[in-house]
Amino acid sequence: MAHAIAVLPGDGIGPEITAPTLEILGELGDFTFTEHPFGGASIDLHGTALTDETTAACKASESVLLAAVGGPKWDTTDPNAPRPEQGLLGLRKELGLFSNLRPVRPVPALYDASALKREVLDGTDLLVVRELTGGIYFGEKTRTATDASDLCHYTVAEVERIARSAFETARKRRNLVHSVDKANVMETSRQWREVVHRIHAEEYSDVELRDQLVDSCAMELIARPTQFDVIVTENLFGDILSDAAAMLSGSLGMLPSASIGDPSQPGMFEPVHGSAPDIAGQGIANPLAMFLSAAMMLRYDFGLEAEATALESAVDGALGDGLRTGDLGGKATTAEALAAVRSRLK
Ligand code: NAD
Ligand code: IPM
Ligand code: MN
Repeated sequence: MAHAIAVLPGDGIGPEITAPTLEILGELGDFTFTEHPFGGASIDLHGTALTDETTAACKASESVLLAAVGGPKWDTTDPNAPRPEQGLLGLRKELGLFSNLRPVRPVPALYDASALKREVLDGTDLLVVRELTGGIYFGEKTRTATDASDLCHYTVAEVERIARSAFETARKRRNLVHSVDKANVMETSRQWREVVHRIHAEEYSDVELRDQLVDSCAMELIARPTQFDVIVTENLFGDILSDAAAMLSGSLGMLPSASIGDPSQPGMFEPVHGSAPDIAGQGIANPLAMFLSAAMMLRYDFGLEAEATALESAVDGALGDGLRTGDLGGKATTAEALAAVRSRLK
């Protein structure tokens, strides 16, 4: 029977990179796609970024594929106005997607597209495991005429489950976890460090664990990225570090992600980048991060390992043969990127 995928094209370049991704998926398996308005597109239609119908449809699907949301049309500093990003945060929470996996593995063909030197990049293969449903993103927010606050809150249980997620993943990789925090300043980080070490000692002492403060981690990611295997960190730090890490692979347009929670529930798969309003509507967006997110979907939600690997190899092959969209310093269009990858799937 066909696998049911809920598709959220969202805003900006979202629809432009979604259409080719569905074509690619159609080559690789039997899927039914149902599109739902999300983010700014949903605000325009329904006055809210995430409707109950969209939430229910995502919960009822086997997997959720998302492009990106947001854009200048909906940018506002009014705390009472709807924002596209609320839809994304709401859906992550509703689906219980506490673990966000963001792999960074620069392909040699793109070394010259990165701002970093080839010798620094060579051998980089890391995974950011970002806690996705807690911390300052979801704590209480206040705003008066004279002040504003965002509460950063974590429960021990939230830290335990993301720690396990990171250690489990490390066991399938190179068995090394960097736990990144700001334990020299933040109470949530001191709790984080204690909990990560307890889970490590009790359940994962075979995995090597190192603590790293987030500020120096940002520097080390750029200076010596090959030292990292798995980086586990809280929501906000993971957001920032993963965009920095994206440049190791040449462009934000290359980085995929998988958001997973309870294995019996659908995961959500989305590129790390946003809606790129500066290039939207021109047909020049790089669809590869979304193709690679679809590959993660094939692997994590459908167990289609061979198909996932075929898609990743097709992307690598197309890049190896010179495919370069604008963000990678070339002139290829989104349609040309689709054609280059699709021809290698056959
Ligand atoms: P962005 O990631 O949208 O863009 C940053 C830069 O990278 C831009 O110059 C853009 O053109 C380029 N870029 C990003 N993806 C690209 C691609 N696939 N191909 C070619 N170039 C690409 O970040 P931003 O400009 O800071 O944010 C724009 C909007 O996106 C905001 O509203 C933000 O909230 C939203 N956003 C959404 C998501 C998401 O839906 N998951 C993620 C990040 C940002
Ligand atoms: C991301 C994005 C989102 C985040 C925004 C759009 C809410 O930047 O997925 O990285 O901060 O989590
Ligand atoms: Mn981000």
